[in-house]
Amino acid sequence: MGAVDQTTADGHLERYDEALARDPMAAFALVREWMRSDWRALFAELRERRPVFVTPAFTVVTRFADVTEVLSRESVFSVRAFGPRLDAALGGPYMLGWDATPMNWRERGLMQVMLDPRDAARVRELAGRIADEALDAAQPHGRIEAVHELFRHVALGVCAEYFGLPGPDPQTLSRWTRAIVTDGFANYTGDPAIQAESVRAGAEMTAYLRDRLAGLRSALRAGLDLPDDVFTRLVRTSLPPGLGLGDERVAINMAGLPLGFVESGPGAMAEAVEQLLLRPEALAQAVAAAADPDPAHFDRHVWEALRFNPFFKLLPRVCEQDHVLAAGTPRATMIPEGTFVLAAPASAMFDPDVVPEPDEFRPDRPDHHRLFFGHGQHACLGVHPAKVVVCEVVRRLLLRPGVRLLPPPEGGLVRSGGIFPERFVLGLGPEGRAA
Ligand code: HEM
Repeated sequence: MGAVDQTTADGHLERYDEALARDPMAAFALVREWMRSDWRALFAELRERRPVFVTPAFTVVTRFADVTEVLSRESVFSVRAFGPRLDAALGGPYMLGWDATPMNWRERGLMQVMLDPRDAARVRELAGRIADEALDAAQPHGRIEAVHELFRHVALGVCAEYFGLPGPDPQTLSRWTRAIVTDGFANYTGDPAIQAESVRAGAEMTAYLRDRLAGLRSALRAGLDLPDDVFTRLVRTSLPPGLGLGDERVAINMAGLPLGFVESGPGAMAEAVEQLLLRPEALAQAVAAAADPDPAHFDRHVWEALRFNPFFKLLPRVCEQDHVLAAGTPRATMIPEGTFVLAAPASAMFDPDVVPEPDEFRPDRPDHHRLFFGHGQHACLGVHPAKVVVCEVVRRLLLRPGVRLLPPPEGGLVRSGGIFPERFVLGLGPEGRAA
């Protein structure tokens, strides 16, 4: 998956069609394996030859226009696939599992106010400070295990200080997010043990949140001076009767913040760093831009790197009514009600109809060609803080001299389940010092 140039040879479709005729399960296994290890070549072939890829179990949507159509038509393509899993973990509905309900509309709006885009500079500074402390601590060893010591460490620190959610301790908060997100997004077979672990973690997490909420309310009543974090803001906000959130809703909405961040933030950082380190020329440009006083000049190097291995490659939806996708084009396809649809932003970002010469590494691409944070009704709630944290952590890392991939057996980025970054040991400082 980390390879710079994946094969571009065709032939996936022939192999898939053959396998399907013999054994549908083997055909799905092939597609799943390609999605992991050979996704750029697979998607390139699908965009060209079968842009709406219909299989008996799911339909994959690969062109930019069609991916954004799916993601912006929430009444046709719902997030029902997430709903029950998230509800079971959190003990009630959460926005990512529900479409166009009044609750979703109000809570998303309120949480957007709480995650004020004007916090971006402060959040960037915070993430940079935590990253530098971690890098200072690792520097004398000449190496860093970046997933835990840097990426997750910063994400958990931002949860503590900006969201106001330190958890009982960072490790416990980290265990909760992993258990719930694994069930919500990576438990394809519906493994009951993974589900049970998620429900257990969700119950612990919401109990913790209720306690903390009670603590905040009594601190406010006592007139204590509290920090300006998202949790405190939410608790301080008073809305007219019928519009405010009860304690249960506050707890569930606060749970959504670490759930949205602690897996996907480090995921994006790890993938972007690996892609940069695999490309010496792109890396040199990024390192030069890292020193630019305006961090925005650096950020686009991170997004272009991430395009070559996005953390979210597929976004799942359920088709709620028969719908002709890409109507009026040669690829128009009827999607029957009940179809499990996978919109593929990872493919859309290589669609030459929208993204010129997509296989070239070009940091100056416009922001509207990027789909890392989804699109439409469910586009990422945390996009503003997430963007600055992801980029600033990568920037602080690249500002250190001698950041490099180590030779085997360390070397590469290790992912669990092929998805979640687990271990990524990087060399720091002068060559030959890493021990
Ligand atoms: C501050 C950090 C973050 C928070 C609080 C957060 C929170 C959320 C929430 C609550 C949603 C659901 C919104 C809704 O259903 O209306 C969401 C969606 C999404 N987020 Fe984030 N997120 C964060 C970071 C990230 C990162 C780093 C990425 C990837 C680079 C990401 C990618 C996405 C995507 C792709 C969706 C759309 C999911 C879909 O349409 O199925 N998020 N986020």
